[in-house]
Amino acid sequence: MAHIVRPDYRYHRSYLEAVDEFAAEGGHIDGDGPWAQEADAETGFEGYAFTRESLEEPEQFRALVRRRRAEELPETPRPAGWVPVTNLWFVEGDTWLGSINLRHELSDFLREVGGHIGYAVRPSARRQGHATEALRQTLELAGEMGLGEVLLTCDEDNAGSRHIIEAAGGRYEDSRQGKRRYWVPTVTPLEIL
Ligand SMILES: CC(C)(COP(=O)(O)OP(=O)(O)OC[C@H]1O[C@@H](n2cnc3c(N)ncnc32)[C@H](O)[C@@H]1OP(=O)(O)O)[C@@H](O)C(=O)NCCC(=O)NCCS
Repeated sequence: MAHIVRPDYRYHRSYLEAVDEFAAEGGHIDGDGPWAQEADAETGFEGYAFTRESLEEPEQFRALVRRRRAEELPETPRPAGWVPVTNLWFVEGDTWLGSINLRHELSDFLREVGGHIGYAVRPSARRQGHATEALRQTLELAGEMGLGEVLLTCDEDNAGSRHIIEAAGGRYEDSRQGKRRYWVPTVTPLEIL
């Protein structure tokens, strides 16, 4: 059964295949995008930018796994204004299906457009309920962390994400900068049957 896990080296091969799927549709995941290079360059901080080519190297992939796990620790260095985030992967067996990230608090930027939780499912694994299930499991984690409700946002024209957020009980607040903003109740341990 598919479930959320901490980033782990065992998904190396499958992760790279997924990166190629995202690239084929013009997207990217993790540090293989302009935002990561900018984050490192602007702050003089190293830890976000990884290239597809470099991740072929086992040591570089291990560095990515370490880096993504460490981002949830308050003491981990990060660019100014960035908050601790629990990075999770959604997997089945050894297959990497997607990623989901839970930010522990809201900065001004996150409150405006980014929200607490972001997710992406690899193109070949979409429309199988994975994002819905990954969100359900992450809402449990958020509840365990003491968050009563979390902010989720999606582009006005992202019908898939909008459907998933509303199905999770999202309460629409407003739209800002082209993003629909929803408050979603989390699940506390006492509510889990
Ligand atoms: C949005 C995304 C995460 C959805 O992942 P997913 O695993 O395919 O979603 P689910 O299978 O859980 O979808 C549940 C329901 O949402 C709706 N839905 C999902 N994708 C949809 C789409 N592209 N268009 C319309 N409805 C969609 C459907 O009702 C679907 O149920 P159905 O397949 O039985 O009809 C995925 O398409 C993705 O990674 N997109 C690119 C990144 C992204 O947009 N991330 C979200 C940023 S807010």
